[in-house]
Amino acid sequence: MAVDLNTSVPHSARIYDHLLGGKDNFEADRSAAAEIVKASPSIPISMRANRRYMARVVRYLAAERGIRQFLDIGTGLPTSPNLHEVVQGVDPATRIVYVDNDPIVLVHARALLTSTPEGSTAYVDADLRDPVAILNSAEVRESLDVSEPVSISLIAVLQFIPDEDEVHKILDTLLEPFPSGSTLAISTVTAHNEQAVAGAAAYRSRGIHAVARTDDEVTALFRGLDLVDPGVTLVHRWRPGPEDEGVEDFHVQMSGGVAVKQ
Ligand SMILES: C[S@@+](CC[C@H](N)C(=O)[O-])C[C@H]1O[C@@H](n2cnc3c(N)ncnc32)[C@H](O)[C@@H]1O
Repeated sequence: MAVDLNTSVPHSARIYDHLLGGKDNFEADRSAAAEIVKASPSIPISMRANRRYMARVVRYLAAERGIRQFLDIGTGLPTSPNLHEVVQGVDPATRIVYVDNDPIVLVHARALLTSTPEGSTAYVDADLRDPVAILNSAEVRESLDVSEPVSISLIAVLQFIPDEDEVHKILDTLLEPFPSGSTLAISTVTAHNEQAVAGAAAYRSRGIHAVARTDDEVTALFRGLDLVDPGVTLVHRWRPGPEDEGVEDFHVQMSGGVAVKQ
């Protein structure tokens, strides 16, 4: 399959990969990343905190809420540990569907398809702004059972969908077919950190729409659902692990939370 990577234009997945120390990026991504770091020097610390948050959230959902199927949208390039490695560590029979719309993630998707033999992983090349296409994809239909609770995770992706009405519609559509006990996990750029606001502006100056949301706006993303403790927080404060000790609030530019459908 021929994939057009359009390497002269910066892509959010490749900027993120570069800032996490990865190698799947190009000059346009590295130059955009340098500008973003100038505007927002703590962003690499924040991104690592966000990645650890993802792992803690999905481990909690698998281990403490018994979720055995995951739909992760805006997956990004493979980065250790990947979501399936965390949740299949809890139960090897867990099924995971990954979704991203960046061609470079598609190129590297093989590294996301390393499921245990008991479980499954699948990858869908699709856009979050078309949730019906995601739900109707062969991978979702074959891997996810709509009679069982699912975890839908949108980690560090909703900042790229600035319109609140559009985000609400997307979330409602994604959760609609799944039963009570299903969960929504989010992290997104927070407006209560000046660096985060400057970082979002630096993304926009390179042609990538990004928005920083207030805590109220992040909380509103969970409307109709029950937030689990500790509610919406900076990501390093959500059930922190040992590696989060010593991380300062002003370094962290993402807030998030987990909520359950009744
Ligand atoms: C900052 S990365 C986050 C990766 C991963 N979720 C994490 O937190 O480590 C954002 C990802 O969202 C993807 N993305 C951005 N807009 C998207 C859209 N409209 N549909 C699907 N994926 C999208 C990007 O390609 C990128 O891989």
